[in-house]
Amino acid sequence: MRVFIKTYGCQMNERDSEALAAQLTAAGYRMVESEDQADVLLFNTCSVREAAERKAKGKIGYLKKLKSRNPALIIGALGCMAQRLGHELLEELPHLDFVLGTGQLHMLVPTLTELAAARRRLALTEPSAEVLDAMGAHLPAAWSAQIAITRGCNRFCSYCIVPYVRGREISRDPADIVAEARRLVAGGVRELLLLGQNVAAYGLGGNNNPPPPDCSPFADLLEELDRIPELLRVRFTSPYVSYFNDRLIAAIAGSRTVCHNIHLPLQSGSDAVLRAMNRQYTRAGYLEKVAAIRAALPDVTFSTDVIVGFPGESEADFQLTRDTMNEVGFEQAYIFKYSPRPGTRAAALTDTVPEEVKEERNRILLDDLGARVAAGLRSYVGCEVEVLTEGVSARNPGRWTGRTGTNIVVHFEPRPGLEAGTLRRVRVTRSGGVTLFGELVE
Ligand code: SAH
Ligand code: SF4
Ligand code: F3S
Repeated sequence: MRVFIKTYGCQMNERDSEALAAQLTAAGYRMVESEDQADVLLFNTCSVREAAERKAKGKIGYLKKLKSRNPALIIGALGCMAQRLGHELLEELPHLDFVLGTGQLHMLVPTLTELAAARRRLALTEPSAEVLDAMGAHLPAAWSAQIAITRGCNRFCSYCIVPYVRGREISRDPADIVAEARRLVAGGVRELLLLGQNVAAYGLGGNNNPPPPDCSPFADLLEELDRIPELLRVRFTSPYVSYFNDRLIAAIAGSRTVCHNIHLPLQSGSDAVLRAMNRQYTRAGYLEKVAAIRAALPDVTFSTDVIVGFPGESEADFQLTRDTMNEVGFEQAYIFKYSPRPGTRAAALTDTVPEEVKEERNRILLDDLGARVAAGLRSYVGCEVEVLTEGVSARNPGRWTGRTGTNIVVHFEPRPGLEAGTLRRVRVTRSGGVTLFGELVE
């Protein structure tokens, strides 16, 4: 049987899809790149904003005709929206065969076996902890791989659906993570991206209080990974600012592998909005943390997530967000227009900010970001940077790309024998709007 998987949403979902593809391959299924070659179509869905749900539903809805021409086709919805809607999704989409929620992903292979023997429609959405250990499989990787270290979230930010669709936060055993990392590195991986909704809460047993300054199981894990000799780089996403303590900062400062680029979600620069979002820090607290990280890692760059148009966000609140972003000088930012999610606490608030205002605020922040990033890149011209080579550039087959530890993409001309996943020095010759150009240095 041939299987096609389409993934919506975040890196956690990308990683789940990879693990599912690896499980399917091991069970004798063949993964295919296009939906018209497939006997099974799977959609790993996202619920974080209404648009994400609309996209997946539209896509699955559109397959109705295909299914009526080919009734043997099996269509499944997996992941976050599948979890949120369960049976409702089966009712809404009569040609959908099955729904597997986030706690039931490990049941994919048995479910397909069952459907091959006897067709029936089913929705499995029970939470289960088994999924945690069952999702460690990887496809053969090149030089970079992702490892999920936690699942779920206990923070309950008032706007966010994730704790409802991904369930309670659970951490994997450090020995399993390190073993998974060692296997990947033995297979050629040189960069690891550690994933979790709040990676800095790793190993705290789901305790929602940030740990004391000298305690961080996440820092212990980073130190373990640092001891794998061939591993060159470690990145992680996302830490919640209140859990980013002195112990973690010291571990990163002492680390050979952890990149000096920190994704630190801000969400808003206004204390009133942060409070309404149930984010447990203030603008000043956030800025203090940024200063502490900068003091330990002078070359660090930051990226962030920001929401514009949260209920009650005034012009003054928005200006505070804008000022805070400029003050930190983010290297990258993901800016989202607030989208009410059914069942969350914020959904009960009136969505007071009109769509055009959300749009305008979004545009202002993107313009600020674009101008700042371009100016920042100009300052690299003439300097030498170290990059991890990534292979042929997607835009220009004559060039290669590499990435600095601070997450800046650099294009350069390759030399014969150059391999992906190696550290190289590049002299920067010019800058573009979002990337750098340069020459390899011997
Ligand atoms: N756990 C991560 C975020 C996961 S969701 C963290 O806390 O950093 C990714 C981003 O989507 C969030 O950081 C937030 O900026 C955005 N987001 C979440 N819910 C949203 C909503 N209802 N409307 C708009 N953006 C939202
Ligand atoms: Fe959502 Fe907040 Fe958890 Fe991030 S920390 S996943 S924003 S509830
Ligand atoms: Fe990720 Fe979307 Fe689920 S952001 S955790 S795929 S709701």
